Amino acid sequence: MTARNPKLFVKSYGCQMNVYDAERMADALAPEGYVAAESAEDADVIVLNTCHIREKAAEKVYSELGRIRKMKAETGRAPLVAVAGCVAQAEGAEILKRASVVDLVVGPQSIQRLPELLRQAKAGARPVDTDFAVEEKFERLAAPAPKAIRGRGVTAFLTVQEGCDKFCTFCVVPYTRGAEASRPVAQVVAEAERLAAAGVREITLLGQNVDAYHGEGPDGRPWSLARLLYRLAEIEGVARLRYTTSHPRDMDDDLIAAHRDLAALMPYLHLPVQSGSDRILKAMNRKHTADDYLRLVDRVREARPDLALSGDFIVGFPGETESDFEATLAIARAAAYASAFTFKYSPRPGTPAAERDDQVDDGVKSERLHRLQALIAEQQTEFARSLVGRRIDVLLDRPGRHPGQVAGRSPYLQPVQLPASSGSVGDVVEAVVTDVGPNSLFAAPAGDARERPRVLVEATA
Ligand code: SAH
Ligand code: SF4
Ligand code: F3S
Repeated sequence: MTARNPKLFVKSYGCQMNVYDAERMADALAPEGYVAAESAEDADVIVLNTCHIREKAAEKVYSELGRIRKMKAETGRAPLVAVAGCVAQAEGAEILKRASVVDLVVGPQSIQRLPELLRQAKAGARPVDTDFAVEEKFERLAAPAPKAIRGRGVTAFLTVQEGCDKFCTFCVVPYTRGAEASRPVAQVVAEAERLAAAGVREITLLGQNVDAYHGEGPDGRPWSLARLLYRLAEIEGVARLRYTTSHPRDMDDDLIAAHRDLAALMPYLHLPVQSGSDRILKAMNRKHTADDYLRLVDRVREARPDLALSGDFIVGFPGETESDFEATLAIARAAAYASAFTFKYSPRPGTPAAERDDQVDDGVKSERLHRLQALIAEQQTEFARSLVGRRIDVLLDRPGRHPGQVAGRSPYLQPVQLPASSGSVGDVVEAVVTDVGPNSLFAAPAGDARERPRVLVEATA
């Protein structure tokens, strides 16, 4: 052991899978004595775990690298700098050319090799590893120590599937995360058991197309996501299960039935539709129509009537007309979202849509984004207000914002503030929603609230 433990700072951009990978990088380096740094200024190794999905996300890495270069010059410190994640995969050795401050580049499927790559970088090489070694990654992924798990709280991500074979014409993910691959059931169960034993109560299964999961089961045959969920629900201590992101094409009958049967499976579904125009959906290569999507949503709601929906939308895809966009507003209204992510189309290098010569003007994109966001915000408020007076389960996950409060999450991922007497972090408590704030719900334990008359409070959002 050295006099001082080396310090690691990982900054993650992009989706939850990058958050998961960042934790695995910290876990891989923990046996070598690495501890978490408070900031980049304080670190011996800085990892930028990047996202390539839209131009803005990808450009962030270069501005951050500029800041690090300046910090190095000003402080005389010499941390090793690694670029990981989807920009690393997409640009590889180009990054070394463009930014001299970078010591190593590692793609998302090679993060298990980080300790070895750091040794090479320390010796003066500037290694680049962008192999698609996904099976090796899954086999060699570092397991966190129980103390590390507890330090991360009572909710956890668990990657079960990675990569994508769908090739939507706007999207870089099939190129940055490679072909679809699923982890064997036994690996997933072992990891979930480890999390539960360390006190994790809620597990979110991750995959770029998580409902395309087909990992090898103990019987040697592929298991569906539904079958995996039934198995994970048996693990003691696991109170809540979620999965994200699902593709409408891969939601099968078994998965819909799991929403009916499994109390642990939260009634909240993230199901991106991207556009409400069949013409645009076709050009995006989504392989379903607006009507297919709405019928699917109806079926899931039939199975689980309290289900709430979230989604992703892209506005201003090449060739999108005002009437295509109105179809997007119409599908958002018809599906009644509890929340949704909305994006302006961003042309990405190497994707078919970026080559089209009918790109939509940025001003038009902004205006459409604004209109869609206004509708979604309205739906979000309406959904939150519909919960007032209703009984919901809340997973207490952190101390409250103010003394005397404890905070948690609703089944729909909304932050909830409750009186501290409601329980301790890690408990799932039954509560009645009493009020809606701009960013959170207020609730009281169901036992107390029953005594009082129900008061409807106007939303402040
Ligand atoms: N696998 C998921 C989505 C992964 S990317 C799915 O198929 O739904 C997350 C979201 O980013 C997408 O749903 C899409 O809405 C958005 N996105 C992807 N590429 C984009 C691009 N080129 N421009 C704007 N938004 C994009
Ligand atoms: Fe991208 Fe489409 Fe694959 Fe989702 S399904 S990751 S949007 S290519
Ligand atoms: Fe971004 Fe890669 Fe995730 S491009 S959204 S970090 S899969």
